[in-house]
Amino acid sequence: MKTSSFSIRKLTLAALLVGSAGLVSSQRPTADKGLKDYYKNYFPVGVAVGRQSIQGAEGELIKQHFNSITPENAMKMGPIHPEENRYFWTDADALVDFAQKNKLRVRGHNLLWHEQTPKWLFKDAQGKQVSKEVLLQRLHDHIFTVVKRYKGKIYAWDVVNEAIADNPQEFLRNSEWYQICGEDFIAKAFEYAHEADPQAQLFYNDYNTERPEKRERIFKLLKKLKDAKVPIDAVGLQGHWSLQEPTEAELRQALDQYASLGLKVQITELDVSIYPWEKERRAKRPGESDAYTPELEQKQAAQYKMFFKVFRDYKNVLTGVTFWNVSDKYSWLDTYPVAGRKNYPLLFDQNQQPKKAYWEVVKF
Ligand code: GLA
Repeated sequence: MKTSSFSIRKLTLAALLVGSAGLVSSQRPTADKGLKDYYKNYFPVGVAVGRQSIQGAEGELIKQHFNSITPENAMKMGPIHPEENRYFWTDADALVDFAQKNKLRVRGHNLLWHEQTPKWLFKDAQGKQVSKEVLLQRLHDHIFTVVKRYKGKIYAWDVVNEAIADNPQEFLRNSEWYQICGEDFIAKAFEYAHEADPQAQLFYNDYNTERPEKRERIFKLLKKLKDAKVPIDAVGLQGHWSLQEPTEAELRQALDQYASLGLKVQITELDVSIYPWEKERRAKRPGESDAYTPELEQKQAAQYKMFFKVFRDYKNVLTGVTFWNVSDKYSWLDTYPVAGRKNYPLLFDQNQQPKKAYWEVVKF
């Protein structure tokens, strides 16, 4: 009796599994569904936006495909806090309002970075470098003001962005934050953000997070923070990737290693460049091609397919995947690192039409 009810249960389970597998594979990509619908059982799908992209055709595309946004620049310290006693809220407010109206989540980006910082931040009225106490007080006031303004409307914050050095021989980046505060600024930023909004999920965010040597240094930092009971919830892998990297094995290993600390993970700035990764800015070389050939498009589609297969496999670890920009009409990679060299890193083309890569991402 026992055995048979057990096998009936097993059979029912098998039938259910076959049923649900059938359902998934019979999903037909259609024009009216969006990325967020295909991925509703996996994770929210987000996109980085500026004010120019929340209207017109791009605005419609955002509403169809995404259920989360990240302000591309509007909440960075330079733009939002240009002078010590002046905040500029207009752009950030407009993005948060758009999100509220359209029921989109918002990831706040970012509270502390070495780039796009305002001029006044590290200097006193005489132009001399400020002390650690003054800088931490400024950081505290900045974080309290910005985080509290959007409390309940922003569910996650990139608290510290890119604190690890580019040079593999070094640990933390030799930024002004580091020069003035030593490594304390990192823990302090998380503490202030947690105090300002205890509900917000707090992230450390960085790039090249899958390269083994950088992965080890990021892991070391995250472990230190966890061991010291700093209120950090998650790590953001920016995902500024290319046709060359990361490999599937590198990506899986990175996800495993970060998750082993009990942290959640998000892909926060995804794009797949058609060029190998470079860091230093330079001019386009005479004759350097920026043609988007069918071969490159095909390779890119295969790369996106692999990434999303891995993301689905890690749905218990990944709590979001966000693209950096909406369509190939505009990407920050059009000017960086090579000025004037067009890039085609996203799922939608310059006319907001889905590319080959898009169909690979939604076909599973
Ligand atoms: C980094 C930052 C982002 C953005 C990109 C380029 O990845 O985290 O805010 O500036 O560079 O746009």
